[in-house]
Amino acid sequence: MLRCENLTVRPAGDASAAPILNHVSVAFQPRAMNALIGPSGCGKTTLVKAMLGLAPVEAGGGVWLGGERISRPEELVGRVGFAPQFSIAQPKLTVEETLRYALELCVADTSVRAARLGNVLGVVGLAEHRHKRVESLSGGQLRRLGLGLELTVDPPTLICDEVTSGLDPISENQILELLRGLAERRGKTIVCIIHNLAKLSGFEWITVVYAGEVVFQGRYEALQGYFAITDPLHLYEILNAQPGDYWSRRWREANGPALAADRERWDTDGAATAGEPPPSPHIPAAATGPVAPGRLPSAAAQFGTLLRRKTRLFMRDHGYLSLMLAITFGFPVMVVIFALSGLPQISSPSLLQPQGASVEAIRAQLNYAIEAAKTSSLVTGLIMFQVILLTLMGANNAAREIAGERLLYEKERLTGLRPSAYAASKLVFTGLLALFQGVWMTGFVKVICVMPGPWLAQTAILALACLAMTWVCLAFSALMASPEKASTLSIYLVGFQLPLSGVVLALPSYLVWVCRPFINAYWGWAGYLYSMEQTRLYDAFTYTNPNTWVADTAQAGAVLAGHAVIGAAIAWWGCQRRRWTA
Ligand SMILES: Nc1ncnc2c1ncn2[C@@H]1O[C@H](COP(=O)(O)OP(=O)(O)OP(=O)(O)O)[C@@H](O)[C@H]1O
Ligand SMILES: [Mg+2]
Repeated sequence: MLRCENLTVRPAGDASAAPILNHVSVAFQPRAMNALIGPSGCGKTTLVKAMLGLAPVEAGGGVWLGGERISRPEELVGRVGFAPQFSIAQPKLTVEETLRYALELCVADTSVRAARLGNVLGVVGLAEHRHKRVESLSGGQLRRLGLGLELTVDPPTLICDEVTSGLDPISENQILELLRGLAERRGKTIVCIIHNLAKLSGFEWITVVYAGEVVFQGRYEALQGYFAITDPLHLYEILNAQPGDYWSRRWREANGPALAADRERWDTDGAATAGEPPPSPHIPAAATGPVAPGRLPSAAAQFGTLLRRKTRLFMRDHGYLSLMLAITFGFPVMVVIFALSGLPQISSPSLLQPQGASVEAIRAQLNYAIEAAKTSSLVTGLIMFQVILLTLMGANNAAREIAGERLLYEKERLTGLRPSAYAASKLVFTGLLALFQGVWMTGFVKVICVMPGPWLAQTAILALACLAMTWVCLAFSALMASPEKASTLSIYLVGFQLPLSGVVLALPSYLVWVCRPFINAYWGWAGYLYSMEQTRLYDAFTYTNPNTWVADTAQAGAVLAGHAVIGAAIAWWGCQRRRWTA
């Protein structure tokens, strides 16, 4: 039996605010249809989230499943499924692909997966729509898919948050029948948050929440007697006629001790107690048993599945793919426009003729100074332009990557997806993208503009600059509550690169070392420029900027690698944290 005791939840970060849930204790009947009802905003979804470990609960409360106290949400994996109020699936995948990937993430055995795919499609009535994209499904079909996703793990307990809301009466009945079938024929415990009070008579056990407190639990006939109603449609009118604490006090005084005794009996006797439906004899253990940790796919297998799914989604989202191709191949073209016929030839300052203090010598030096200033500004500009565009690509690669699918990720965690597999798949996918962009930018600009200097060092520096910005923005994406916030922060970070690098405008001296360690663009620029140390272009730069400190390529590479490692570590940590924002 799934039950909780004394759960109190307050709005995040505000210990003095009025509680959303106030010392709530409920128990759901095993192998039966349970309804969880109450007016909008009374705390039904919060109660379910608190029981699943998705909302922070104050000390003193606890959740039990089958008599065992749950100390970590991971202990519910494979045992309690949750179909949330909104649909969670990748719009560009088909129904079959969605279920197939979900199965790959939570079931290790390939033969079980194959059998379960057909079974789930049949049970939720989506077999004929298996090749439709999720984005083209109707509301009812989406709800069915949500249920189907839960059935991939085949949990013994299934919590459904308003899976019938907004559906036409026929679809609503079909989904309720489907759930009833799961309870009756497969012995599942179904907990259904439902707004349609006309359907209450079809449930074995009803829980009423009002103003953050439980005000009734029992059978349909008992509910009619307790609230003195014959038509359940009048329930909310009756509730609203009294303040919330009137109902909670009445319920506690009248039924609290009896219900507590019932809960203990259910825990210790299992399901075979009076008043509960008997367990179905014909249910195979494999169909209802929890997914033991050993039967989950390995982290490496989950990583492979996520990477394949990401690649498929990437190739299928034509708008995003076109944008990615445009910036990856278009940005280098924008750089070379400034030096289409290559870099100007410039002599060495040591070879200036004539030497000395004659008018001719001074004229030669002046001419060189003008040439050197032009060449130096062209070269530093070309390098900085490449670095800035690569940081922009980095932000685009990663800012929405985790924040944009956070709920899907959190949902998949409930069915056994390991945070390490998820974080690794994001780091590898965005990392490979960044490295390709860095290598392409370096090669293209180097060949067209005939940039002198060693290939390897220059490629490594620019690829590292792109990788570092990508993983720092991935860290934002793992920490922020929404993709919009992560994108905004990333764009600000890119926007600060040019002014705070100190390359175009010198920074006040007291700011240089405050900003420099954090500015990707400075290190990318310096590392690339220093790689040309043996060339006349570098001489022209030092001639024009004799007091500018330029980090050498190894130093710059080390700092950029440091940025990348810190970004990756924060992204990894951000994926371990729970962030259920719905
Ligand atoms: N993160 C949060 N911070 C502050 N208040 C919150 C938060 N989440 C929910 N609430 C508030 O808690 C109350 C209960 O919300 P909840 O989503 O549990 O209601 P509900 O009973 O599921 O409503 P509905 O039937 O409309 O889905 C609401 O007043 C809501 O505004
Ligand atoms: Mg709700």
